[in-house]
Order: sequence, then C-alpha cells, then structure tokens
Amino acid sequence: MSEGGCLMNGEMHATQGWEESMERRKSEKSLRASEEKFKGLAASAQDAIIMIDEKENISYWNEAAERVFGYASHEVMGTGLRALFASSEQAEAYREELRHFHKPGETPLPRKLLTVRAVKKDGTEFPVELTISALQLKGEWHAVSILRDVTERKQAEDQLRRSERNLIRAQEIAHIGSWRWDIVNNRITWSHGSPEAYRIFGFVDHQGSVTFETFLRSVHAEDRDRVKKTIDAALSGEKPYDIDHRIVLHDRSVRFVHEQAAVIRDDSGTIVGMEGTVHDITGRKESEEMLHRQLANMTALSEIAISISSSLDIRVTLNVLLEKLTTLLKVDAADVLLLDKDSLYLNYAAGRGFSASAVQSTHVHLGKGHAGQAAYERQALIITDLSGSLTNALKGEEFESYIAMPLIAQGKVQGVLEIFQRKSLNPTKEWMTFLELLAGQAAIAINNAAMYDSLQHFATELTLSYDATLEGWGRTLEFRDEDTKGHTERVTEMTLRLSRMLGMADSELVQVRRGALLHDIGKISIPDTILLKKGPLTPEELQIMKLHTIYARDLLAGIPFLRPAIDIPYCHHERWDGQGYPRGIKGEDIPFKARVFSVIDVADALISERPYREAWPVEKTYQHIAALRGVHFDPLVVDAFLDMTWSQ
Ligand code: C2E
Ligand code: SIN
Ligand code: SIN
Ligand code: SIN
Ligand code: FE
Repeated sequence: MSEGGCLMNGEMHATQGWEESMERRKSEKSLRASEEKFKGLAASAQDAIIMIDEKENISYWNEAAERVFGYASHEVMGTGLRALFASSEQAEAYREELRHFHKPGETPLPRKLLTVRAVKKDGTEFPVELTISALQLKGEWHAVSILRDVTERKQAEDQLRRSERNLIRAQEIAHIGSWRWDIVNNRITWSHGSPEAYRIFGFVDHQGSVTFETFLRSVHAEDRDRVKKTIDAALSGEKPYDIDHRIVLHDRSVRFVHEQAAVIRDDSGTIVGMEGTVHDITGRKESEEMLHRQLANMTALSEIAISISSSLDIRVTLNVLLEKLTTLLKVDAADVLLLDKDSLYLNYAAGRGFSASAVQSTHVHLGKGHAGQAAYERQALIITDLSGSLTNALKGEEFESYIAMPLIAQGKVQGVLEIFQRKSLNPTKEWMTFLELLAGQAAIAINNAAMYDSLQHFATELTLSYDATLEGWGRTLEFRDEDTKGHTERVTEMTLRLSRMLGMADSELVQVRRGALLHDIGKISIPDTILLKKGPLTPEELQIMKLHTIYARDLLAGIPFLRPAIDIPYCHHERWDGQGYPRGIKGEDIPFKARVFSVIDVADALISERPYREAWPVEKTYQHIAALRGVHFDPLVVDAFLDMTWSQ
C-alpha cells in the first residue's frame, strides 16, 4: 500500500507533509509502539476484532472474539477463515471485501458494513455485522475486521415485524387507525403503513401529505369548533384527550369517529407533535367472528413484551471510545457530534479534553462549518491552522489543528468525530489508521443505538395501539347496546379502585382491568331481539341472556394473552349463596376478582337508566347492595364498597 494509506482521495494533498515526516520517523521502535497501541485498543473492545494477514490467515484475535466465537486465540491463530462462516458463500462475501488489501497500492474502500452468517465453535449460527479496514504492523499490511453479534437485534426486529402485520390486520378489522402529527412540519402521517386511517378519512393518496388544516376541513362543520378547542387544550399542556366527532367525506357521507390522542414532547419538554388513534364507530355490526379474529391478534401483544431490553446507551459507549482515543492517540480534545436526521443538525453528544463546557452547545447544520462540511462531503477534513476559524465556543481553548472524520455506517452519515490539537498535528499513516478504526467503531455503535431507539419507540407505539383496540371492542358493544353506554369504562375504573382498597397486587390489577373491559364481551353473541328488548325478558330469553358468560369464556380461552383475564367475564354473575350462574358455585369458590367486580357491575346497572325502569338513586343502590351482603355478594367486598363513594 503506498501513498494515501487509509485516507480518502479528497485530502491526499493535505497529507503530503505528513508522508515525509512519517518516513523520517519510521523505525522499529515506533512500529512496536503502534502495535502496543493497537492491542490496547483491541483488547478492551466490546466487538470481536480479528486481523488477517496477506495470506488470509488469522494474525490477531481479541478477547471479545473468543467470547463471540468460542475459540481461544491459540486455536485459530495462523488458520484460515472458512470455519468462522456458515457457508462458503458467506465466507466468499467476506473475502470479496478482503481483496482490496492484496494489491499493493490500492486504497481500501470507504468502510462498508457487511452482514454475514457466522458460526461458533459449538456449531451455532448467528448473524454478524462487520467492517474491514487496514493496518500496517511491522511493515506488513493486515486487514482488520470488527465484528458484532446482532442475533438479539435481528430477533427483536423479526418479532416486531410480525406484530406490526398483526396490528395492521387487527386495526383494519376493528376500523382503528393510528396517526402522528408532526407539528414542526405540519404533517400528519399514519404509523406503520396503517391504511385504515386513510380509509376512514377517505384520503386516497397514500403518498401525499396531510396537514392539520386538511384534517380539520374533513371534520363536520358542527363539530369543528369543539374538535379544535380540544386539540388546542391538549397543545397548551392539558391531559390526553378522548373525543367523538363526525367527519364528512368527499361524497358528503358522514362518519362517526372516536379519537384518542396525546402530545409528544422532545427532550427539552417542548411539544413537537401529537399521536393517537382514530376509531371508525359508524358501522356497529361487527360479528362474533370478527371479534374472535381480533382476539387472536392480541396474542401478538404478549410477544411484544420482548427482548428489546438491551437498549444501548450511546453516550456511555462514546465516552469510553473518546477516552481510549485521547489517551492512546495522544489527542488533546475530541468530541462526537450526532446527526439529527430530521433537522439535519449535528449536535454535541460526547466530548473529552475541553477546558470549558461551551462545546456542549455545538449545533451545526449539515454542510456548514468544518464538521458539517466533512459530514456533507463524506470525507475527512484536516485543518492544520485553525486560527481565525474557531467558533466562539472554542475561542479560549487555543486549538491549533483539527480533524473532522465523518462517521458512516450502512452507507449513512451518523455523525462526525472531531479531533482538536493545541499544537500542530503530524499524523502518521498508523495514527490515521487507528483513528479510522475508532471512527468505524463509533459509527457502528451510533447506528446500532439509533436502531434500538427506533425499535423501542415502535414497540411502545404498538402496545398503545393494542390497548386502544381493546378499549375499542368495549365501545363497539356499548354502541350496539345503547343503554350501557359509558358503563364499561366506569365499572373498570371503579373495580380497580375497589380492588386496590382490598389490597390486590399490581400484577393482578392488570388482569382485573382487562377482565372488566371485556366482562360482557359474550353479549356479542346475543341476538338483538333479546339484547335490545324494551321490556322485561321472558324466562326463555333470560336463559339465553345468561349464556353471555359462557360465550365469553369460550371466546377468551383461545387467547393465551387474555386467558388470565377470564375470571371476571366468566364468573361475574355467580352469587355468594350459590344461586348465580353459569355454574352456581358459592363463597370463596368464586374467583376473588369476580366477587369484587359483581358488586360494581350491579351497582352501576342500578344507578343507570334501563328501558324497562328508571335509574335508581345512589342512596337506594347502596342500601340494596348492603342488603345483599352475604347473600348475593362477598361480605368483605360489600364492607369495602360501602366505604367507597360513587363517582360518575
Ligand atoms: P345489566 O343490565 O348490565 O345488569 C347487570 C346485573 O345488575 C343484572 O344481572 C342484575 O344482577 C343487576 N340488575 C340490573 N338491573 C336490575 C334491576 O332492575 N333490579 C335488580 N334487582 N337487579 C338489577 P342479570 O339479572 O343476570 O342480567 C344480566 C343482563 O341481562 C343485564 O345486564 C341486562 O343486559 C339483561 N337483562 C336482565 N334483565 C333484563 C330485562 O328485564 N330486560 C332486558 N331488556 N334486559 C335484561
Ligand atoms: C387525525 O385524526 O388523523 C389527525 C388528528 C389531529 O391532527 O389531531
Ligand atoms: C467554519 O468552519 O466556518 C467555522 C469553523 C469553526 O467553528 O471552527
Ligand atoms: C465545533 O465543534 O464547534 C465546530 C468545529 C468545526 O466545525 O470546525
Ligand atoms: Fe354481565
């Protein structure tokens, strides 16, 4: 390898002086020192680092490589690469990249991230991401590969993709869409390609952007003021909202929707957007079969409570990296600026060696300033005389020379590594190679952290959408049975309060919540003639009505995720004295959650108006419940209930 070493073509002219000085300094001693330096870096690295000599045999194997592959260094030194890859095609993909190190004089390609399937000593296959750069030691060139095991991330990605597909299907069936409104750019988008929101609003162009004004125009004129006020209130910092309103489509047909939304804030707490769900409640004819399919999709939720646990704290990683860089490469100060892909600003993320903290406010636009230029042109930039070109933030630091290295992973600029020196810089080829190596590590780390972040955000979003879907079913039922409107939410909240008073554990409360939301889900199978009857039921009709508990059990039993929530839907009409249904079990044989819930369910039914009777006053209802203590209801639950005030 001749001139230029690892520098990219653009700054060849700038390296001329250093080439000469490098020649002068070239001695056994400095080469040994650089080998020490390399080993210092490599030994402590998180990623596997493997060096290959010109004969394609392994010439260096760090501790992380031992951990990742399961081979000790002495087992692989001097051997070829084939054993490390799952197939000869995979090995060939790797060797393809290595070729660049064989022809003397050829400059290594800018770093490229490869994904290949590797194999451990015990035969386990796993995916790795790797980059290759070059390093000269004792006068010989070696290819240096940095490899990262990405098994966990790949699994998380696969799982999320499956969940996403399930969610889109569940949302289509339930007519629920999720949306996100970016206030800064006034753009409303629909998450994970959810086509349902487009259908609901009757927007046709999936690519076209929808603004807040477009949305507002589609709201029914009589509802527009109320919708606008609600959104304004949310934007001025009030609680998440929940609103029913109408929208008018192009063909002038009217749809009823239920929207739930909350604001999104950036790190500094400024409101930058809103996100929420929109539920088309126009058609209330969902069938049992539809519900069954939705419930099946809910199993995906349990799959989401997964393994994206290993979120990487990028700042910690970068600090470790900068510490190594400043000590091993004897650099006065260095920092990493991260590219914000939305605003295209490079922002300070981590730094070391600065005497003032002003550098932390660094904020430069892509293409502007030295760092912005290096990132924009994707080329390292070297400034030997900084005088007169320092930002205010760096005036007092007396820096003389500067290098900006763009951090590129998967072909995308992730940020910039900046090096500041108080004296002039005389980088040797080796020194630049180390710098490239570290920049490569930093780029991969940033890329991975960004991916974890977006995966995590995505998982949260999916979970929220599933919750909204669950609540959506409750409403679907209520719209069919107009008289129980609001009943589901009210009894859910009251049951949670009473359960807490009775000392129920938090882990149980999750099941109480789901069970209460779904308590009358079985009524979906009861014919309208009975469910909507404006008068007392005949004994035969009542028999059919009582089946709603059994229908609920059958429906939920097939869904692993909802099985623990079955107690309330199945047992909420059992009685303490054994005179209830469907099984007629008594006392403590009745699941506790169902004993608590039944008190609330009956109280709420009595306090509400029914087609066949007036609403009861709260006072009369409390007396009725008290009279059924130890008869219909668990005495201890009634005691706690009587201490609780009824809230509408
Ligand atoms: P729901 O209306 O939500 O009532 C839940 C439970 O509250 C009832 O369970 C019952 O224990 C109690 N409850 C409700 N209204 C009254 C009342 O006026 N007097 C008394 N003493 N208790 C009351 P239940 O009886 O097993 O009924 C289950 C469901 O069957 C009810 O749910 C309702 O949807 C339907 N249902 C029951 N009776 C009638 C009726 O006479 N006409 C109609 N149209 N539906 C009825
Ligand atoms: C929407 O429902 O699609 C947007 C609602 C909003 O911007 O508040
Ligand atoms: C610039 O590159 O134009 C600004 C330089 C600096 O802030 O160092
Ligand atoms: C900075 O880090 O403050 C900007 C330095 C530069 O772009 O030269
Ligand atoms: Fe019921």
